[in-house]
Amino acid sequence: MTALPAAVRIVEVGPRDGLQNEAVALDVDRRLELIGRLADAGLRDIEAGAFVSPRRVPNMAGSGELMERLDRRPGVSYPCLVPNETGLDAALDAGCTDIAIFAAVSETFSQRNTGCSIAESMDRLARVAVRAHDAGLRVRGYLSCVMGCPYEGAVSAETVATLAAELIAMGCHEVSLGDTTGAGSPFRVRALIDSVARHVPPRQIAGHFHDTRGMAAANAYAAALAGVTVFDASVGGLGGCPFAPGATGNVATEDLVYLFDDAGVHTGVDLQKLVDVASWISAQLGHPVASRVARAFNSRRPT
Ligand code: HMG
Ligand code: MG
Repeated sequence: MTALPAAVRIVEVGPRDGLQNEAVALDVDRRLELIGRLADAGLRDIEAGAFVSPRRVPNMAGSGELMERLDRRPGVSYPCLVPNETGLDAALDAGCTDIAIFAAVSETFSQRNTGCSIAESMDRLARVAVRAHDAGLRVRGYLSCVMGCPYEGAVSAETVATLAAELIAMGCHEVSLGDTTGAGSPFRVRALIDSVARHVPPRQIAGHFHDTRGMAAANAYAAALAGVTVFDASVGGLGGCPFAPGATGNVATEDLVYLFDDAGVHTGVDLQKLVDVASWISAQLGHPVASRVARAFNSRRPT
């Protein structure tokens, strides 16, 4: 495939991936305000929180309260991360209808992130998926370190493809391929998507690109040319994984929206409103907005 799609779906992960690694922990009120502002900007998939250990990821504490108090807009989904059955129980108690289960393609990262091997984590996730589907939940899958592991280096595309297919076989509606450390570049991203697409239809593959090396928007473009139509992004380019040292935030949502708007690819997101959210959340966190597109908009120059 060499043409861009007519439309893409952006999964806004700012309230989860974006906030989980920030130095400042936001209270539930401000996290709810962020989610509301993102919905106002047109985002229809907003990853809202994580049912993980608050000792391991303190910034995601209160996700249960957040989901209980959330003003759910029609047509908007609010997935939350769930690593195990303890997390699923909490997500069900909080009224979640969408969850995201996550595993890694490298053993060391799996141990650091979730305290277990890849095989153990896939067993846990299979149990979570069965119970979640029985309860009528929609389940998304994630794989971390698909373009390389911060501890082990290169990873095999075959491993990525096999694990992606296993998540789809568990009933995940799509699997998001995480370039956790932003190690990828467009050439290798294209090759990886082509490998995974031999096992999983491209419509069930999402791209989750961190921007550590400034390649994330280019990687999304390469993935879109390979047939991917779902992209994770974080307003203001916030984000990072506490268990991936040196990795920075996700591709900024406004960078992706600018890229796709300019190519005539529908996103449904209002770029100016989104830039305003990026500026607001960065101020809440006490740092300047990181994304180039937001900074250019805020400089008020016409071009
Ligand atoms: P564990 O500590 O390895 O093992 O937790 P455990 O099952 O023996 O549990 C120990 C304690 O944690 C117990 O409490 C459990 O009750 C509690 P204690 O008796 O010591 O007081 N516990 C939980 N508490 C809250 N929620 C739970 C839960 N499960 C057990 N669900 C666990 C295993 C996975 C929970 C832990 O290792 C953990 O929370 N890790 C953090 C994972 C995480 O959030 N990582 C960041 C998100 S993933 C990411 O960013 C990558 C992604 O963006 C894609 C990409 O970029 O690559 C998705
Ligand atoms: Mg991530």
